[in-house]
Amino acid sequence: MQKQIVDPHGYIELASRLMPGEDYLHTLRRLHEFLKPANYLEIGVNTGKSFALASPPTIAIGIDPEPNLRWPPRTKYAIHKLTSDEYFLNRDCRKDIESSTIDFAFIDGLHVFEQALRDFINIEKFAGPRTVVAIHDCLPIDSISASPVRSTVFWSGDVWKIVICLRETRPDLDVFTIASPPTGLAIVAGFGEPHSGWAEDFPALAERFRNVELGDDHDSIRESVAAVPNHWLDVADRIRSRFPG
Ligand SMILES: C[S@@+](CC[C@H](N)C(=O)[O-])C[C@H]1O[C@@H](n2cnc3c(N)ncnc32)[C@H](O)[C@@H]1O
Repeated sequence: MQKQIVDPHGYIELASRLMPGEDYLHTLRRLHEFLKPANYLEIGVNTGKSFALASPPTIAIGIDPEPNLRWPPRTKYAIHKLTSDEYFLNRDCRKDIESSTIDFAFIDGLHVFEQALRDFINIEKFAGPRTVVAIHDCLPIDSISASPVRSTVFWSGDVWKIVICLRETRPDLDVFTIASPPTGLAIVAGFGEPHSGWAEDFPALAERFRNVELGDDHDSIRESVAAVPNHWLDVADRIRSRFPG
């Protein structure tokens, strides 16, 4: 039988060399253990590999128009077969999470900047001082695999622009990217009072960052997305420092 070529450009190998250490699923597991969230909201469930990291007593809410569950969830959960926009438009998130605030959210749906930004804006409506939002694919390998238009098997899209956008327009938040292979995990913490007005003109905000360009080498890519080494204890300290009390 012919071997299937899943990574013809060698991106996976390159990612593990550029970003040594635990992958994003390990980092997510650590975040669950550290945050012990009462609720968890995941946009983009697919096979459920990351969704299954939520454990009791966390209430897990998944959103995906085409879920393909192969990893059984381990806690009380619901998966809504909707796009994230449909979900936030039509459902009462507070009722689903049985709380007024989302404790932990993971954005891993449609891999384009505008969608990730809309997902973030919708999640922030339910954010409190202890909310943590993780965003996948924010430390790309190169500009080809980080383009909004897919041309490679290994593709992270232009979600990374959200880090630049948030760091520039939301100095009240702490926004950084853990160098977890294969494509980094951004963290947003430090939510306070609801932040009004910031994204009222969504088209203008998206337009402002749509054309930002990624550097040519990995050092400049790391710098633009505020990458930090994949050292869990330092990451945990940084998140904790933004929590009240
Ligand atoms: C990369 S996969 C998610 C992987 C999963 N989080 C994991 O780490 O195991 C992306 C998923 O996002 C879903 N998706 C695509 N567009 C979406 C949208 N607009 N809203 C929510 N999910 C979407 C796709 O159906 C796909 O299952």
